[in-house]
Amino acid sequence: MAILIIAPDRNTDQLKTYLQAYLPEVIVYNDPAKAPAEQVEMAVLWKQPPGILRRFPKLKAVHSLGAGVDHLISDPSIPKHLPIARIVDEELTIGMRRYVLMAVLNIHKNLLFHLQQQQKAQWSGLNQAETPLRIGVMGLGALGEAVAKDLCQLQFPVAGFSNSPKKLSGIDTFSAEKGELSAFLKGINTLVCLLPLTSATKDILKRELFAQLPDASYLINVGRGAHLVEEDLLWAFESGKIRGAYLDVLRKEPLPSDHPFWTQEGLVLTPHIASVTNQENAARQIAENYQRMQKGLLMKNQIDRQKGY
Ligand code: NDP
Ligand code: OXD
Repeated sequence: MAILIIAPDRNTDQLKTYLQAYLPEVIVYNDPAKAPAEQVEMAVLWKQPPGILRRFPKLKAVHSLGAGVDHLISDPSIPKHLPIARIVDEELTIGMRRYVLMAVLNIHKNLLFHLQQQQKAQWSGLNQAETPLRIGVMGLGALGEAVAKDLCQLQFPVAGFSNSPKKLSGIDTFSAEKGELSAFLKGINTLVCLLPLTSATKDILKRELFAQLPDASYLINVGRGAHLVEEDLLWAFESGKIRGAYLDVLRKEPLPSDHPFWTQEGLVLTPHIASVTNQENAARQIAENYQRMQKGLLMKNQIDRQKGY
């Protein structure tokens, strides 16, 4: 019995040690080349090379090493019948709440403008003390709901957009099922994307959407890079629809060195660090799910493959 971790852009030695301690009866591998194909029953994956699981015919379940599962859904070597689970973790949620707050407060207090003033040794800008924000949070799941509630508590007007209808105290809610995207966009000038990447949400941040926002709006994308049509954001900057953006996720990561985003004024880039899975917490959840899988139970935070999240 074995678990195989594949996450080429991360050092998974710690995760392996924690998992091994939780499951002493199981062998944990983090090098696919060393894992005996017939023994691996669970794969733990993050940005795995697509197709790599074809070599492992005894797989019973697949676990994401993060909250997102788009890298699993899109991998043709993961058989359709295999259950998929993901990480839902208080610490991950706190990290995301802090990132979005950081971005919203920097926008609200015009920090980029004040930094420019500082570089010119200029003590001015009282008329630019604050930008009034009406914030829309796309995705009201484990992360988006917590973010929306934080912003609401800080007295920002907040709207939320989810797939199915939801009721959240103090927050105007809209749903995709009821076709309310345009109504959601109507009242806001700052958009936070915390959607999962699915066939329904790919390319959702596009020209037609930006065109529905008032001029000088803001975008914070912490969902996935493929939510955003990048040339449409450049159009939105050029046309004045968008004044500022925080992008933590990009279509191609790392962002190519000649990409126009590097030099776009008003754009802040962070390298997919909005919130990073804590390896010990992840190991605890993966170990519990491994045991549940062995007992024939539903794993915790198992996703609905039909919905894709
Ligand atoms: P959840 O699955 O808990 O929540 C997803 C939310 O999106 C739900 O409210 C769901 O609606 C809504 N949704 C799904 N499809 C649609 C749609 N077509 N239209 C409108 N709303 C939709 O996910 P999490 O909150 O845990 O995570 C969200 C995403 O954040 C992850 O998938 C990942 O891509 C990203 N992420 C990024 C990180 C970073 O560091 N940048 C870190 C962690 C996650 P409903 O409630 O009706 O199901
Ligand atoms: C995740 C991420 O999905 O880091 O956990 O993006």
